[in-house]
Amino acid sequence: MKNNPIGIFDSGLGGLTVLSEIARILPAEDTVYLGDTARVPYGIKSKETVVRYALEDAAFLKSHKVKLIVIACNTASANAQDVLQKVLDLPVVGVIEPGARAAVEASKSGRIGIIGTEATIRSNAYTRAIVELSPEAQTFNIACPLFVPLVEEGWNGTDIAERVAREYLKGFKEANIDTLVLGCTHYPLLKEVISSVMGPGVRLIDSATATALEVASLLKENGQECSEEEAGTHAFYATDSPESFTKVGARFLGVRLGSTSLAHLESIEHG
Ligand code: DGL
Repeated sequence: MKNNPIGIFDSGLGGLTVLSEIARILPAEDTVYLGDTARVPYGIKSKETVVRYALEDAAFLKSHKVKLIVIACNTASANAQDVLQKVLDLPVVGVIEPGARAAVEASKSGRIGIIGTEATIRSNAYTRAIVELSPEAQTFNIACPLFVPLVEEGWNGTDIAERVAREYLKGFKEANIDTLVLGCTHYPLLKEVISSVMGPGVRLIDSATATALEVASLLKENGQECSEEEAGTHAFYATDSPESFTKVGARFLGVRLGSTSLAHLESIEHG
């Protein structure tokens, strides 16, 4: 089991930001990444639908004999992590708790902003995780649904992105936050814009790094760290258009991807 791959899934390409951190922190580990590009976005869907999709994604990774599953998608972590943990006999790591922990550690005032997709904000999962760690913390939540298509269009550095960010983030004006959780896989690519709108007094929390560190410590704790010396291999699967996944994926990963294969998911009825 030790040398089996780590499975990572996301609704699409965005989770490659999490894979990138896992590969940086755990360079010897093999990974299998699934992007559910046929059904992206998850962020505007109901909880029931997101749970069903997440179960199917996880079953696909399990069939690749992964030793641990990382839910790189904030929407899927927020809505489906508890169900996956219940039904899978594998460790499951989501992005919410690591991100919440990093935010609580970073915040001095305990006033923490959270941005994410509609389904992530609606779930209240970040607030619950933050308040559990720090009961006196106060959170302020804003859904920013236009950020995902902006990043996918490659418009993250444009003045359109800045105007959209100003419009969404003005909701934090009165809140006086000192920390902002980037609660969506795509938002690390908007870090510069968000940071220029929020100003230097607000720390931005990217859960990708915190999640990779959590994976590292869990593997260590379970005695499941890969024992091989050479660099790990990375396999990529997408449920639609593998060529475009490979092409656009480079933007998220920062380096060229190996080729991507088409994934066929089995449907699972749930609930
Ligand atoms: N991966 C999703 C998330 O982190 C963003 C894209 C989507 O809506 O599916 O919430």
